[in-house]
Amino acid sequence: MTSLRVDAEVAENRDEGGANRRLRLRVPDWPGSAPGQFVMLSPGVRSSVERFDPLLPRPMAVYRVHDGCLEVLYKVTGRGTALLADARSGERVRVVGPLGKGFPESVGKCLLVGGGTGIASLYDLAARDRERSHVLLGARSQRDLMGQEDFAALGVALSIATEDGSTGSSGLVTALLERELETATNATVFACGPTPMMRASAEIAAKHGARCFVSLENPMACGIGVCQGCAAPRANGGYALVCRDGPVFDANEVLWEAMP
Ligand SMILES: Cc1cc2nc3c(=O)[nH]c(=O)nc-3n(C[C@H](O)[C@H](O)[C@H](O)COP(=O)(O)OP(=O)(O)OC[C@H]3O[C@@H](n4cnc5c(N)ncnc54)[C@H](O)[C@@H]3O)c2cc1C
Ligand code: FES
Repeated sequence: MTSLRVDAEVAENRDEGGANRRLRLRVPDWPGSAPGQFVMLSPGVRSSVERFDPLLPRPMAVYRVHDGCLEVLYKVTGRGTALLADARSGERVRVVGPLGKGFPESVGKCLLVGGGTGIASLYDLAARDRERSHVLLGARSQRDLMGQEDFAALGVALSIATEDGSTGSSGLVTALLERELETATNATVFACGPTPMMRASAEIAAKHGARCFVSLENPMACGIGVCQGCAAPRANGGYALVCRDGPVFDANEVLWEAMP
């Protein structure tokens, strides 16, 4: 799939509760993307005056294409996302993408495990395989959960865990995964979220003989395989570039104990 580099018009940039926001961008000639691919977004709006601080774009999952707009769900965590949150309708944000390799096809049941901002990488995958998908979402508390209504509207099986018990089960999303894998046969796990959550998902999947694919969220500088800033250690030696070789990897390919 070819990638675009375009200054896209902001259609909407709305507060979704907590630190979460939904950015809707008009991207003419968007070529489409595979579930799990991402875009690099300028850290804030583009204007006639170049801003060099911060300089580097920020990676964001393609959440979905909806009502003619490319949607990104993001959490304001630092300077780049705070500047992005200031973008108003009609202003422009630079988009480069779609980038990276997405989730592979699978057979049997799909267990999608999303934690925190990692949830955004899974919506398109759930939409692709509604019948076979069981989505497990986890967050610290209800206000941190992204996209809950969208997943519910897909009609997929949906289970939620929050660490403070404000919605769904109380505890970690990986406990839901463990429970599902106790009875599931021929399931594939697809996980995205904080590294410890993905590592735990990989270990639980391995214990139950299930395949597991993870979408790594290493910080990125270029997004196109040039800067080497996103390197992830491989289990069989050397490093993979998360932006170019991933962000999706078979969990067995990752040397988890050496992950940043
Ligand atoms: C492939 C990919 C897809 C992503 N998709 C999404 C998405 O859909 N929605 C979303 O909200 N976020 C997503 N992220 C994470 C997002 O890119 C970072 O949160 C963002 O770059 C932070 O930028 P900032 O300038 O606001 O924060 P910074 O000022 O750069 O950092 C603020 C704090 O966050 C930490 N941080 C920065 N980047 C990351 C990261 N990648 N993982 C963990 N901690 C980080 C820093 O160490 C620092 O403590 C994705 C990352 C990758 C690699
Ligand atoms: S982000 Fe530059 S090589 Fe991956």
